[in-house]
Amino acid sequence: MLQRPRRNRQSAVIRSMVEENRLSVKDMMFPLFVMEGQKTQTEISSMPGIYRFTLDLLLAEIESCVKLGIQSFALFPQIPESKKDSMASESYKKGNIYIESIYQISQRFPEISLLTDVAMDPYSSDGHDGIVQDGQILNDETLPVLAKMAIAQAQAGSKLIGPSDMMDGRVGFLRQALDEAGFSQVGIMAYTAKYASAFYGPFRDALESAPKFGDKKTYQMNPANRREALIEAELDEMEGADFLMVKPALAYLDIISLLKENSHLPIAAYNVSGEYAMVKAAAQNGWIDGEKAMLESLLSIKRAGAQVILTYFAKEFAQLKLA
Ligand code: PBG
Repeated sequence: MLQRPRRNRQSAVIRSMVEENRLSVKDMMFPLFVMEGQKTQTEISSMPGIYRFTLDLLLAEIESCVKLGIQSFALFPQIPESKKDSMASESYKKGNIYIESIYQISQRFPEISLLTDVAMDPYSSDGHDGIVQDGQILNDETLPVLAKMAIAQAQAGSKLIGPSDMMDGRVGFLRQALDEAGFSQVGIMAYTAKYASAFYGPFRDALESAPKFGDKKTYQMNPANRREALIEAELDEMEGADFLMVKPALAYLDIISLLKENSHLPIAAYNVSGEYAMVKAAAQNGWIDGEKAMLESLLSIKRAGAQVILTYFAKEFAQLKLA
């Protein structure tokens, strides 16, 4: 035998020397949830270890994450049911909890990167990402609402917006709206290949944002499709996206790798709430080693080609004493 692959596995030093991918906290973006009120944090029951914070406590949480080396965050709001309506008009109201949070976070932590969410569902009484009429999700009518939201966020200090809605043409529409409003430096992380997935369940618990009727299959992608992700990627790239995102991550590693090979833009992957919940649930039952399963799944996302990993594990990862 001339080739014996085991020779390069025989000691920890050699294994480390030939290691092709290594995780760093710098790869990660930590999603956070904000809610109205004061001095309160509520654990999300389907996401052990993840909380909704009122803004005062959220600022303290970000500070502790920054001390651990986390540089990058994503933010989502939980909006009281009484403020939701069919047009998501709360979403761009001055001083709403989300806009206020963006303002305070960017004032207090100018050095971090904060991805701010552009989508109607947290504010929609229908729980959908677009305007609903007669049971249909309207596309073109939704775009101006998204643009108002994006501009309100940019005015509050956002430097990176994440349209998570999957309406056609929204990246180009938002790019133009931001440019015309003088925000040509605000970037767009496009949710490019966002699939209609069962793995969003715990996130919808966190936001109380589940659709009130039907599902999201007329706008989010069919999990059976791979080539269609290339169409979405080409469009987002032509429309001016700065990042392409694949979501969820673990069940879609092939899509991450496909986009990586077919685009020169940085690729992000969203290791979503259900993927987090599965590892946590199994670990709490003593069925798997949670820490090792976390590291292995994060590594698989990086190996597939993601340069940015949005993950609820970011803080836990940052707290590990890795050599
Ligand atoms: C909706 C949105 C969803 C997530 C982020 N933005 C869920 C959905 O499409 O219903 C899911 C994130 C997660 O599960 O962690 N705009």
